[in-house]
Amino acid sequence: MKISSLTETELIAARQILQKSYQACTDQGYNLDLTRGKPSSAQLDLSNELDGILGGFYLLQDGTDVRNYGNILGIPEARQLGAEILGVGMSETMVGGNSSLTLMYNFISHMMPVWSEEAGEREDAVKFICPVPGYDRHFTLCEHFGIEMINVDLLAGGPDMAAIEKLVKEDPMIKAVWCVPRYSNPTGHTYDQNTVKAFARLDRVAGKDFRVLWDNAYAVHDLIDESAQLHNLMDEAKSSETENSVVMFASTSKITFAGAGIAFLATSTTNLKAFEQFLGPQVIGFDKVNQLRHVRFLKDLKNLKTHMNKHKALLKPKFDLVEEKLKSNLGDSGVADWTNPTGGYFVSLNTLPGLANEVVRLAAGAGVKLTPAGATFPYGLDHDNRNIRIAPTYPSLDDLGLAMNVLVVSIQLASVNHLLDR
Ligand SMILES: Cc1ncc(COP(=O)(O)O)c(C=O)c1O
Repeated sequence: MKISSLTETELIAARQILQKSYQACTDQGYNLDLTRGKPSSAQLDLSNELDGILGGFYLLQDGTDVRNYGNILGIPEARQLGAEILGVGMSETMVGGNSSLTLMYNFISHMMPVWSEEAGEREDAVKFICPVPGYDRHFTLCEHFGIEMINVDLLAGGPDMAAIEKLVKEDPMIKAVWCVPRYSNPTGHTYDQNTVKAFARLDRVAGKDFRVLWDNAYAVHDLIDESAQLHNLMDEAKSSETENSVVMFASTSKITFAGAGIAFLATSTTNLKAFEQFLGPQVIGFDKVNQLRHVRFLKDLKNLKTHMNKHKALLKPKFDLVEEKLKSNLGDSGVADWTNPTGGYFVSLNTLPGLANEVVRLAAGAGVKLTPAGATFPYGLDHDNRNIRIAPTYPSLDDLGLAMNVLVVSIQLASVNHLLDR
């Protein structure tokens, strides 16, 4: 049913039917949640072998006892694993604790004095470019550090590079750009080769100490076999002699245990040395026992991919269900569009302009919690009020189906009401 082309009489009839369907949902007393971008218990179970895998052997080949202090950049075996995931050299990679977000926080803390000094001299603010829709915690980090955020559209092949180049050229206080280059949160898009090349060249036109924050959180999180490949940013940057602008992040949060994985940061060896000095006063070394457990369990990139296939088997039916519910109920409605990702953790859905808040409100009224409208934009401000992030990974398949039914009816009802109110 093409809702957007219905006549007024047809809309009134549709509204009556939809109000009944919506009431039927509310009568169920659901308590469902589509907000949580975290692995399900079945996914966590895939890594239970981590527990006890060391079997009392704590020594590395070079004799290092991982139970003791030291190795602030991580054990070589884990640095190698991170380097393989990120497609860089081991000497460019460090391993932190259980969160890449902590590494991002620390990296920004480390750069802030340098950026702020220049900001003070220019009586201006430190600014970051934020491709939108994007990951809310990147925006929270910026707000925390008082960094001004500038929106740039995220397109199917990556952020609008022409817009980014223009902004960066014109304003030397733009000090970084956030990127989730593979299976972006929330759209699931992967940056194409030209975009990656353009990012590698950006430092040439940017102000001093510019950084591309390459958060490759979903580097190995494919949902199909013929997955989208990501061009290697570090190799490109080396050809352009801009490797100091590249800072990459990843973690095993959605590979092993979300709360007890290991995180990676990769950058030029010059930057890494400076960052190591920054970390020195706060930590003598991260949890090397966990690093060794991960190395024993995941081994190398090839084995890790076999492990990720098990995640794929659990996740693919959930993403298929989301697509099926959206397509069969809204496919030709003209009131919503959405992404059908081949990897990552999310689906990004757009309602008609101005309706995201109302859809979230209606769904909540029928017992389905959705990520607040606006969360995918800096300052929580989606000026078009239309983007909603769907997180299919955590609920059971049954709960996901029920929650999607409610979402679909909420979108249909909000759209029909809106069209009648015009
Ligand atoms: C793009 C992105 N980066 C980072 C994270 C968090 O990673 P970590 O658990 O390593 O802190 C997430 C989690 O949802 C994410 O979506």
